[in-house]
Amino acid sequence: MTEIPKTYRVKSFGCQMNVYDGERMAELLGAQGMTAAGDGEDADLVVLNTCHIREKAAEKAYSDVGRLRREDGSKPIVALAGCVAQAEGAEAKSRSSLIDLVVGPQAYHRLPDMVAEVAKGGRPVDTDMPAISKFGALPARRKVGPSAFLTVQEGCDKFCTYCVVPYTRGAEISRPFADVVAEAQSLVDGGAREITLLGQNVNAFEGGLDNLIRAIAKIDGLERIRYTTSHPADMSDALIAAHGEIDKLMPYLHLPVQSGSDPILKAMNRSHTAESYLETLEKVRTARPDIAISGDFIVGFPGEREEDFAATLAIVDAVGYASAYSFKYSARPGTPAAVMEGAVAPEVMDDRLQRLQARLAEHSLAFNRATVGKDTRILIDRKGRLPGQMIGKSPWLQSVFVETGARIGDMVDVTVTKALPNSLGGVLRDSKVAA
Ligand code: SAH
Ligand code: SF4
Ligand code: F3S
Repeated sequence: MTEIPKTYRVKSFGCQMNVYDGERMAELLGAQGMTAAGDGEDADLVVLNTCHIREKAAEKAYSDVGRLRREDGSKPIVALAGCVAQAEGAEAKSRSSLIDLVVGPQAYHRLPDMVAEVAKGGRPVDTDMPAISKFGALPARRKVGPSAFLTVQEGCDKFCTYCVVPYTRGAEISRPFADVVAEAQSLVDGGAREITLLGQNVNAFEGGLDNLIRAIAKIDGLERIRYTTSHPADMSDALIAAHGEIDKLMPYLHLPVQSGSDPILKAMNRSHTAESYLETLEKVRTARPDIAISGDFIVGFPGEREEDFAATLAIVDAVGYASAYSFKYSARPGTPAAVMEGAVAPEVMDDRLQRLQARLAEHSLAFNRATVGKDTRILIDRKGRLPGQMIGKSPWLQSVFVETGARIGDMVDVTVTKALPNSLGGVLRDSKVAA
């Protein structure tokens, strides 16, 4: 018999949707009377909220589980949650005897029941994707930081041939419009000044993401709205227009392209071409000329030749990304690409990733340099390392370091004075006038 845990720790990996789920699991456990374990303290219950997207991420889940055994041989109750839990289900229990329960991303509202089952000696698994959503069974949002995530849509129907998300998160489903607006209001009531609307394909939100953004923009006290991630095929004209019309919608768009080569895009089942992607961005830039574009890239997809990779570098130059994530292709069991011919050798992948990242870094630095001398407003979200130093986000999602007495959650007017590849330095606008 195990005792009902008094303290918990939730560790989230992977995408922002996992971060959101992790927060909701913490709220759920809190509502049961459990408290969060402090830094460095042992927790009675550890929830590992895992990511399955690439092999390394999935393997990390098990090494993290292994590390939960304490020096005296005891262990916390271990809950495997997230996408590895969904993908492996009961099998996870045979891979590690330390795992007490397995709960998928659509079933975590059942976490307290499952913990109670563990206390009775059970080892429950729930990877159901119930038709009735978990959201109704979750407690109301509690106090949050200045920048909050809000999942508005789950799952994905796009079936890119390399990707596990349609399997780990299930079919694409949008939350009811009114529920999302109500949750946004309670996040603002709890202290949020910025909300990022989340979905694996958030721009396909039913009812129109532009309409949702318009509705949320009416909330007093909410200063900024962002959304991620978008698929190029779902960038509607109405959403593009919203970028030119809604002041609270920040000038930043994460629009993954994955590759610049049409044959590779076709093999990936991306349903856009390099040209159609660039045309979409042209429309976006017409609506909002100062918008920062970010993207995701995969190098070494099966069949990728040097000329395909050259096309990827070319699209990077054509777009001039403000920021980007790039990955080596990782074959995922059960996906169509995993059985495609033309595997790219690891050293070729390494080389291409390095060249791509060098090119992307040039563009980030150029984008950041172009903001030097500009006046802008940042939302302070953390402390810097130096005394009196705070860090906030610009509208273009750059981290700006500034010396100020302002606190986390404050909006501060700054002049950008310095650009680094991944951040900016700034001074308070008033201090510039004084100098
Ligand atoms: N829904 C989002 C992305 C989800 S995964 C979208 O479509 O944009 C985040 C990124 O991980 C993807 O954009 C892709 O670049 C990368 N990724 C997904 N599967 C991968 C795989 N099997 N190997 C390498 N990178 C992958
Ligand atoms: Fe994966 Fe493609 Fe869906 Fe993104 S759009 S989650 S890459 S299948
Ligand atoms: Fe990873 Fe699942 Fe997100 S696989 S990227 S945590 S949807």
